[in-house]
Amino acid sequence: RTLNWNPVMVEKQGFKHFMLKEIYEQPGVVRACLEAYFDGEWAATDANKSPIHLGLAPELLADLQHIQIVACGTSWHAGLVGKYLLEQLAGVPTTVHYASEFRYAPAPITPNTLTIGVTQSGETADTLAALEMEKKRRSSFTQPELQSRLLGITNRPESSLGDLVPNIIDTHAGIEIGVAATKTFVAQVMAFYGLALDLTDRRQAKSPEQLEEILVGLRQLPAQMEVVLESQERYIEELAHDFAETQDFIFLGRGINFPIALEGALKLKEISYIHAEGYPAGEMKHGPIALLDAKVPVVAIAMPGAVYEKVLSNAQEARARDARLIGVTPMDEQEAADTFDTLIPVPHVDELLSPILTVIPLQLLAYHIAARRGLDVDQPRNLAKSVTVE
Ligand code: G6P
Repeated sequence: RTLNWNPVMVEKQGFKHFMLKEIYEQPGVVRACLEAYFDGEWAATDANKSPIHLGLAPELLADLQHIQIVACGTSWHAGLVGKYLLEQLAGVPTTVHYASEFRYAPAPITPNTLTIGVTQSGETADTLAALEMEKKRRSSFTQPELQSRLLGITNRPESSLGDLVPNIIDTHAGIEIGVAATKTFVAQVMAFYGLALDLTDRRQAKSPEQLEEILVGLRQLPAQMEVVLESQERYIEELAHDFAETQDFIFLGRGINFPIALEGALKLKEISYIHAEGYPAGEMKHGPIALLDAKVPVVAIAMPGAVYEKVLSNAQEARARDARLIGVTPMDEQEAADTFDTLIPVPHVDELLSPILTVIPLQLLAYHIAARRGLDVDQPRNLAKSVTVE
């Protein structure tokens, strides 16, 4: 039997596009992050023993009162997930800024502010400029450790970002070729789990038992991600047939899944050139609901937790406007099954950990719609993998 593979296909390991290969690499990336950031477990008996190893300078996280995150594109979405974790777990007020805005209108800081730059490439001009400005601004602080309260989250520690900031969390995603970020995004979110759990522990905002429960949940994610990939990819490929001609999409989420709605919309825009908006579901009534009719599909992320019922009722409002409703929701949830026209089931998981699972169907949906439209998924028009000019 002859193999009709060409060298590029070998590089893609049989996948049609790098993006799909990288989507499938995500469970492995999460495993790599878990191994790099966590070792062992929280011992209830020994408060000084933490299983988190981020390799950061000890004074970096001491006495923090505020965190500000600067980033662009998908990295900005990871920052929004990070904000949720840092505020809801560790209790540290966190603001997230577009680097291109922040560099010309920096928010006030105090010596107890930590600034985090998130950039997978470590080369995005706006993010670097925002951090350079921040470094200069901090030189007025008297203590050297306060001057250098800067942290980078990147997939390339040996980058301009690495030269600029003294502390780095490496995201261990391996090289990403597809212009639309996928595996680097989940790796950035993993870095935020590491950071948020570290801060939560230091500030004793949760008990060791509660922290351990979260860690156990994180360790189950790779296998659950594999379930999503194995059980849903074919189905989403089929589903994509329905949307090859669609012109507008709305993505809804709330809480920690609001940034995932933004990310789902961005992925679709980037590679399929379909207009898509991500919205916090509760905000829909203040504008976007006017766009809805039978031609505008609505994708809602509905994971059991604090806002589950709210998202379902927001989805019902969309249904009343004839929108086709697609729900990313746990398997065997009757209420969700009654609400949505189409279900993309994901495993039951704590809401706090759910973004790592809920983002996968949205990546696959964007991928298959773009592939169905015959577009150049890995090299979308007008976009660059890393934007090194302003
Ligand atoms: C470009 C890419 C996006 C990416 C953004 C930020 O626009 O096309 O996929 O999210 O840059 O890149 P960074 O390397 O800073 O994460």
